[in-house]
Amino acid sequence: MPSHENRRALVTGAGSGIGRGVARRLAGEGAAVALLDVNRETASSVADEIIRDGGEAVVVVADVRDRVAVREAIATAGAALGGIDYLVNNAGLITMSAFEQTTDEEWDLVMDVNCKGMFVVTQEALPYLRDAGEGAAVVNLSTVEAEVVVSSQGSCQVHYNASKGGVRMLTKAMAAELSRYGIRVNAVAPGPVATNFIPGLSHDDVDVRSFMDARLLIKRSATPDDIAAAISFLLSTDASYITGVQLPVDGGWLVR
Ligand SMILES: NC(=O)c1ccc[n+]([C@@H]2O[C@H](COP(=O)([O-])OP(=O)(O)OC[C@H]3O[C@@H](n4cnc5c(N)ncnc54)[C@H](O)[C@@H]3O)[C@@H](O)[C@H]2O)c1
Repeated sequence: MPSHENRRALVTGAGSGIGRGVARRLAGEGAAVALLDVNRETASSVADEIIRDGGEAVVVVADVRDRVAVREAIATAGAALGGIDYLVNNAGLITMSAFEQTTDEEWDLVMDVNCKGMFVVTQEALPYLRDAGEGAAVVNLSTVEAEVVVSSQGSCQVHYNASKGGVRMLTKAMAAELSRYGIRVNAVAPGPVATNFIPGLSHDDVDVRSFMDARLLIKRSATPDDIAAAISFLLSTDASYITGVQLPVDGGWLVR
């Protein structure tokens, strides 16, 4: 297990699912963690869990689309933790609409939270990452749906595919731009993860299971900790020669 002793991590969307798993894992491995979420209540309850387990956590509230709020939240986080070494751009959402039903509002919401949000948060966190010196690293949450379309409910979600395709190239472009500061930037691409990401979707439902089983080589959904483990690795010095990649953590979904 990598050690993140004396490291300071900012995790967006840390109040639920994968973000919660990442925050808990990094804290368990020694990092002090700032949990950024639009939902104060859920982020605070994750922070409480971390503190109960002996870790260090602080909550900051912002919508990743709101530059002013993000700037303020990052300043608060940076001051509370004494700097920021790691950024995990995890906040994201989806709306389940087929192409012909997708509205301009849905398109803007999904593109802005999933893709522009990473641009805004990374730009605002950059002074702290630059100051952190050796070991500064960013991990973005992509998905297998940046590579292939998935039509679990009869149609894919074009706005979600477009947003995460954007994340894939944003990761490479930021890796190129930020290499001058010694900051590594990578992405992870999960397949299905058992969270509340798609409201009403049960990973135990027979139809959902058989759809997934047909594509997964490892016949189960990922847990948030499966994804957090890969993110912890990509942030660690064990990954110090890896930048600009998108690592599938997908139970083999992309193999065939
Ligand atoms: N669950 C999956 O199957 C899956 C698969 C591949 C990729 N992902 C990606 O993983 C990331 C996390 O997904 P999850 O499954 O943990 O979802 P989740 O819904 O459980 O958690 C998302 C978190 O992001 C926060 N959030 C949403 N919009 C925000 C905003 N505008 N500003 C700040 N915070 C915001 C929410 O409050 C929530 O705490 C997303 O980027 C998603 O695209 C998820």
